Amino acid sequence: MIPPKELLQATDAYEWFKEMRKVSPVRYDEERQTWDVFCYEGAQKTLTDYKTFSSQMGGGEISLLGMDPPKHKLYRSIVAQAFTPISIEKMEPRIEQIARELLSARVARGEMDIIADLAFPLPVIVIAEMLGVPAEDRELFKKWSDALVADVDIAKGQTAMELLERKQKVAEDLYHYFGSVVEEHRKHPKDDLISALLQARIEEQSLDEQALLSFCLLLLVAGNETTTNLIGNAMLTFLERPQLMEKLRADRSLLPTAIEEVLRFRSPVQSLSRRVTTDTVLNGQQLKAGDRVIIWLGSANRDERQFENADQFMYKRHPNRHIAFGHGIHFCLGAALARLEARVALHTLLQQAPTMALRDSSTIQPLQSTFVYGYPAIPVTFNPY
Ligand code: HEM
Repeated sequence: MIPPKELLQATDAYEWFKEMRKVSPVRYDEERQTWDVFCYEGAQKTLTDYKTFSSQMGGGEISLLGMDPPKHKLYRSIVAQAFTPISIEKMEPRIEQIARELLSARVARGEMDIIADLAFPLPVIVIAEMLGVPAEDRELFKKWSDALVADVDIAKGQTAMELLERKQKVAEDLYHYFGSVVEEHRKHPKDDLISALLQARIEEQSLDEQALLSFCLLLLVAGNETTTNLIGNAMLTFLERPQLMEKLRADRSLLPTAIEEVLRFRSPVQSLSRRVTTDTVLNGQQLKAGDRVIIWLGSANRDERQFENADQFMYKRHPNRHIAFGHGIHFCLGAALARLEARVALHTLLQQAPTMALRDSSTIQPLQSTFVYGYPAIPVTFNPY
């Protein structure tokens, strides 16, 4: 997926989206030969109508994200069991324990980086434990997942082809890594997700090696960076609003609604891709079979026609029908887990660090990516007494 040139050059992506929603909510970009959907209504229609807007993007995509029905439903049902709200709820005490352990040493020291010390390790440890892979390998996962969501690095003169080659190499490394982990589980089954995947049957057949590895890869990549960014985006939003921080500290039952607003206001996943299967009309525009479509979730979630005062962060916003987890049949499988991890991380942080402030707000810069929205580092200081 190649991002629009104007977006790469924009100083503020949200301002650019706003302009696009005004002048061309659904438009064709000749240069990239791609449709861009910026408005909420168009985004929702596209995601709902999976027959006209397929997730199969070509390029041999074999993960759940790139499947259409009926195959999609069969595969999704295999992992869905592990991600129901009831299964996820049971994980709360363990997630709390991990968050407390990660935080205790840092708080005593009087400073930390919200991302490196909490928002990054927490989801990696959780998914590693669910899958049954060693959490010690988390630095490797970080390197891989960062590389998979990177954009073309214009400053370094990188071409789209070089980026693609780099991503392919990283995907190969990941497959190789999971190949040996799966082998180990085949020999010694345990009570974890990889062992469950090894036992799963689709139409009486077990999953082939490729399908199995792609599940592992998907859970690791889809679930980690996104949740890291949700926790980071939430903390940054609260740190920028000290009065709100105090309100949340005093009444932590406000957290779930505030987290929903963070998902809308700073959506961790900014864009999704689809391919048109039959000629269709969207927002008065004629789309042709075979056309590529990018749905800008970040923009849709700031659409003034759907959300009152869309550019304002309203921690009690209700209703809040954001589409940060997507919409329709591919709705994020990990939504309940991501919400739980964010709530527990923020709750623990507010509880353990009575005062907290950004160390130097001028150094906080968003990630260089048009697929994801987040911050690589959020250094804070606190005065625990
Ligand atoms: C799908 C966002 C966390 C696993 C999606 C989609 C979005 C999304 C937008 C829809 C993709 C599409 O329609 O093409 C997010 C955000 C997260 C998050 C914003 C965190 C804040 C997680 C976690 C996991 C996960 C923690 C699992 C560990 C998945 C899977 C799918 C998916 C497996 C594919 C579902 C399907 O194709 O049926 N996610 N996600 N996500 N997500 Fe998440």
